[in-house]
Amino acid sequence: MASNEFQALQGMSDIHAPEIYLWHMIEERARQLFSCYGYEELRTPSLEKLSIFKRSIGDTTDVVQKEMYAFEDRGGRELALRPEGTAGTIRHLAGRGEEGQNARVFYISPMFRCERPQAGRKRQFHQVGVEDTGEPNPLADAECIALQQQLLEAWGLTGSKIQINSRGTKEDQKLISDNLRQLLDEHRGDLCDDCQRRMDENVLRVIDCKNEKCKAIAATLPEMRSFMTQESQDYLDTVIETLGQMGVEVEYDRNLVRGLDYYVHTVWEITHGALGAQNAIAGGGRYEIALGKKAIPGVGFAMGIERVITSLEACGVTAGQFAPKGGLWLVSLGDEALAANMQLARELRGKGLRCGMELAAKSMKAQMRKANRAGAEKVIIRGEDEIAKGTAIVKDMEDGSQEEMGLDDVLRIA
Ligand code: HAM
Repeated sequence: MASNEFQALQGMSDIHAPEIYLWHMIEERARQLFSCYGYEELRTPSLEKLSIFKRSIGDTTDVVQKEMYAFEDRGGRELALRPEGTAGTIRHLAGRGEEGQNARVFYISPMFRCERPQAGRKRQFHQVGVEDTGEPNPLADAECIALQQQLLEAWGLTGSKIQINSRGTKEDQKLISDNLRQLLDEHRGDLCDDCQRRMDENVLRVIDCKNEKCKAIAATLPEMRSFMTQESQDYLDTVIETLGQMGVEVEYDRNLVRGLDYYVHTVWEITHGALGAQNAIAGGGRYEIALGKKAIPGVGFAMGIERVITSLEACGVTAGQFAPKGGLWLVSLGDEALAANMQLARELRGKGLRCGMELAAKSMKAQMRKANRAGAEKVIIRGEDEIAKGTAIVKDMEDGSQEEMGLDDVLRIA
């Protein structure tokens, strides 16, 4: 049997203490801020019909073509583990009729992409995301980006950069694609294999290809926005101006396209210098997705929690800062005290206090060691004598002082 038979799958990690405390901080602060903006939580299933992703993300995208965990279930139904959260969210909102056309929802969920494993690329990763549905409105796009920036601040993350561009409307995109295809035709042979395929299927993606040769060719092309209607260009300008008025700094990136087909108008990405090649901590944009009778317009973003954590750690934010500490530790000298402490611990925990104890009357030294490790603020020591008198010795772990007091007083100061 292979030695890794019972290990977790490659690209999928167990998340445990102390790192889990960073996750809790990230999730709690996100929930708090989302509530200030009027977003409500949505939890959709991890598994959806494959057609939902094909239809919304796009048949020719890398996510759909190369990265999905797609399979047939026992009934021959084509399913896929969600590679992102927008498609499932819109599937849900489409089922809610008019209400779904004007909703604000957020999610904190695992996503799955069967990518080639490398630093920053997981096969199960987690996104904190929002979707705000409603007719295109540059102020909604600006507010969405501002929310994201405020979230980074709430997490204590500094040094990130927001890049923004526009893909225009669907009509603009057709015009942009036709023009690009014409202009790129003479360079076809110099493009990478992926881009040669993209020329026919998804020519916009040639513009943000990371291959050096493709980049050099893309740099010779006119800006995408030059093929858009004035209205679409004004839309992008309003988003950028509004953000400027709100004090949110963004950088216009003429080559930012994003890899999902549902986008129209504004697209953006947030990067952080602490990350390597996979330097995007977040991506977002305005979209239009048709999964019901009526297409749903909206705007949203998703931030990759694993990448946020790597960036936070590079900024000196550590999990230990958020680990629970303090509280009480009960030390039992003898079996009688042990039995009495079982009852006392139950009472203290019932009051919402963090309270630990050893479940065997071990030596005082061993029990104190445990109290120290748990970061207890105070230790309550009881033996036969204290039980008989109805008292306890309370030791302050910070200054080492100790005093004997009545049990009622112990409960009062706890
Ligand atoms: P995305 O750019 O594909 O956008 O993913 C958003 C973020 O998820 C990325 O910036 C990255 O931080 C994280 N991420 C993606 N793939 C991986 C991976 N393999 N390992 C670790 N982290 C990863 C979306 O998913 C869109 N649904 C965002 C959106 C919401 N647009 C509108 N609404």
